[in-house]
Amino acid sequence: MRKPLIVANWKMHNTASEASSFVEELLGKIGEISSVEVAIAPPFTALESVSKILSKTDLVLAAQNMYWEPEGAFTGEISPVMLRELDCRFVILGHSERRQYFGDGDGEVALKVGAALTEGLMPILCVGETLGEREQGKTFEIVERQVRSALDGGMPDSGGGLVIAYEPVWAIGTGKTATPEAAQEVHGFIRGLLENLLGEGLGDEVRILYGGSVKPDSVDSLMAMQDIDGALVGGASLDAESFARIIHFK
Ligand code: PGA
Repeated sequence: MRKPLIVANWKMHNTASEASSFVEELLGKIGEISSVEVAIAPPFTALESVSKILSKTDLVLAAQNMYWEPEGAFTGEISPVMLRELDCRFVILGHSERRQYFGDGDGEVALKVGAALTEGLMPILCVGETLGEREQGKTFEIVERQVRSALDGGMPDSGGGLVIAYEPVWAIGTGKTATPEAAQEVHGFIRGLLENLLGEGLGDEVRILYGGSVKPDSVDSLMAMQDIDGALVGGASLDAESFARIIHFK
């Protein structure tokens, strides 16, 4: 059984003090969450303060990116070892904003996935096609290339050690969610690919999240799909009420 996973991707929002107040507010709204795993990915500067608060709860910490070396002369970068020390469980890798604005290509993403697995962080590998690629019928081709190349960097020992987030680029921050059926089609494809690459047992254990304008009113129908095991939530995770409702999807 794959335990559903809901991840808040705050992107470049919330200072350390804002992050602490927000998490306290959120905790007051969510109550019992035993049937779902919840992770918060604040900016680097808020990891420590959020980590301290989450250590007393069932929620876990995630980072939004990292470099692949454990240490060295890499000005401005953060290593997996540094993230582990702050009790990060997950790290988002290959997000389309990283690919689009910061030059993270398939090669960099593969190195990061490999380093995360080696250092005991669970990668949340983001894949997804742009609008142009979808219109040209290239969705499966793109997603397959992104998944295959990322796993060239390293394979998880268990299916539970890897998370994939399918995030169609045209749905991120646009208010346009893929229909549950269209998302399921790609999730089912990714499941087949993972079973192929990792073996059936492991491939079946990997959680595949959907991301792209997930909101309280779209989460239930998405989560009802067979291969949608959770959500990577941007905008709606910045509102405690909305995010609490998403966590308690029906
Ligand atoms: P969104 O972002 O929910 O604001 O579309 C999702 C993401 O980029 O992870």
